[in-house]
Amino acid sequence: MASEPVCVEDFEPYLKARVSDSFWHYFRSGADGEQTLRDNPLAFQRYRLLPRCLRDVSQRDTSTSILGHRLSFPVGVSPMGCHAFVHRDGEIATAKGVSNAGSAMVLSMWSNKSLEDVAASVHPDTPLLLHLNLLFDRSRMEAVIRRAEAACYKALVVTVDQPTMGNRMHLRRSIDVDPTITCPHILLPGEELTHEKARAIVNESKAVTWKDILWLTGITSLPVVLKGILTAEDAREAVRHGAAGILVSNHGGRQLDGVPAPIDVLAEIVNAVRGSSVEVYVDGGIRKGTDVLKALALGARAVFIGRPAIWGLAYDGEKGVEKVLGILKEEFSRAMALCGCSSLSDITPDLIATMPYSKM
Ligand SMILES: Cc1cc2nc3c(=O)[nH]c(=O)nc-3n(C[C@H](O)[C@H](O)[C@H](O)COP(=O)(O)O)c2cc1C
Repeated sequence: MASEPVCVEDFEPYLKARVSDSFWHYFRSGADGEQTLRDNPLAFQRYRLLPRCLRDVSQRDTSTSILGHRLSFPVGVSPMGCHAFVHRDGEIATAKGVSNAGSAMVLSMWSNKSLEDVAASVHPDTPLLLHLNLLFDRSRMEAVIRRAEAACYKALVVTVDQPTMGNRMHLRRSIDVDPTITCPHILLPGEELTHEKARAIVNESKAVTWKDILWLTGITSLPVVLKGILTAEDAREAVRHGAAGILVSNHGGRQLDGVPAPIDVLAEIVNAVRGSSVEVYVDGGIRKGTDVLKALALGARAVFIGRPAIWGLAYDGEKGVEKVLGILKEEFSRAMALCGCSSLSDITPDLIATMPYSKM
């Protein structure tokens, strides 16, 4: 690889160089023709910034909070399974990088490291949230939730866009998983991680409905965030069913191909829940500090990144994740200055001009 990475995209080749072809495709792939995967980052170009001049931006405060927990800037890491495919310390390395950067992390239920070991590796103030796929087996679900509560996780983030596995292109290839790599929250001791097993587990979510969200909010005091909402109607349902947060997401283009980029539905969802206390976040295709600023101007409280964290992990483990987040923070702070914003409350919708979709 040529020189030191200077922007988020510069980290991607390190993942390709570090892992086998099948692991590379596992992280990179989207569903079907990958229209949504391609559109997620491109969609940000449909929004242009209208900067304000001659405002004092000599002191800028990039900090914010999610669900009452402080972040040094409004970017966290979304849940992704199996970081140990990339780095032997897996999610522990990712979480340490997140913690050093003053960011937040949603630990995937498909993580290779236990939620307790991950929690023990970060600064106690780091907001760690636990991701869940709601499965049939309630006693198993409840056991994981109790562990998350005991380990001081700050919220549960439930995937709601995966009643079955999307038609992922990487599934054309088999993945040779080192048998020492396991998913301790999902697999029983001695059970091996295979495509078939993963698909069967995801398929357990097929019959999950809003009633199950009521069940979940009823059995835990942790705030519940619903991840994968793309419509105003579902956003209003989320409020009615006790969600504390909504993560507007299309699963990084890995579920239903052809859905809009999350940034394109964000403002409508923010409007739909206005007046409630629900916090709205967004992920999908965020690669630049200006993307973060655009998302906040359109009403997101914070944004999350997926693949870029994995690219950073491949680049240099914990330090690589911290570096990716550090670059985003610096870019975001610079974008704030260039837009005339000294705090997040200055980032308002009037900074955005929209470009319409153009016909093919
Ligand atoms: C390898 C990989 C695994 C993922 N696993 C999950 C998952 O188990 N549950 C989930 O809700 N989202 C999952 N996602 C989606 C991410 O949480 C996130 O929504 C997406 O990656 C954001 O888009 P970005 O990668 O363009 O930043 C996964 C994404 C990747 C790349």
